[in-house]
Amino acid sequence: NMKPVQVKLVLLGEAAVGKSSLVLRFVNNEFQENKEPTIGAAFLTQKCRLEDKSIKFEIWDTAGQERFHSLAPMYYRNAQAAVVVYDVTKASSLEKAKSWVKELQRQANPNIVIALTGNKVDLVQEEGSSESRGEGSDNEQEQEDEDEDDDEDNYRISRQVPTEEARAYADEAGLLFFETSAKNGKGVAEVFLEIAKKIPLE
Ligand code: GTP
Ligand code: MG
Repeated sequence: NMKPVQVKLVLLGEAAVGKSSLVLRFVNNEFQENKEPTIGAAFLTQKCRLEDKSIKFEIWDTAGQERFHSLAPMYYRNAQAAVVVYDVTKASSLEKAKSWVKELQRQANPNIVIALTGNKVDLVQEEGSSESRGEGSDNEQEQEDEDEDDDEDNYRISRQVPTEEARAYADEAGLLFFETSAKNGKGVAEVFLEIAKKIPLE
């Protein structure tokens, strides 16, 4: 009955953080273990029904590789929403996300709704615990020592971005904040739903 409101949404973030995988989960409810890097950008659409409105997301999934950075303004220029993605197992990807947020706040539509999303939480969350600070699943020890980090090795995948650190940044910068797994689907629909709720009715 209601004509859907079209919402142009752009995904930004460092290469391999899982932008395309989040979109694939949201649009097709699928996951690919070895997804190929995006070249340029990909376009997809998905409808989303709320109580009082219906939304059609027009999604621009951009390429994270540095050589494509200069194309990004074409995709965020008229966007009403942006999902800026980092990988919770890679601290540098949060720094990259912050630089995307700065660029959006300087150059994009001043009313743009921005959601910061820490992806790949399936790699760090243990069964039965909502908070995991990156101990390997075979490590029973909970305590945190003050000495230098003793797992510099990359054999075990550990959380590099604490939830509260990212949330504090998101609050300060005025962003929505989520943690997701494109692999198991956790939190993915919520990102788009919460964005949809914040888009004003025309
Ligand atoms: P670019 O297109 O190069 O910018 O990368 P991208 O951000 O689109 O990343 P992509 O979705 O291609 O995912 C990169 C790799 O991470 C792929 O091998 C995915 O299968 C994997 N991946 C993506 N999301 C998740 C996740 O939530 N959990 C796990 N374990 N792996 C993921
Ligand atoms: Mg991609």
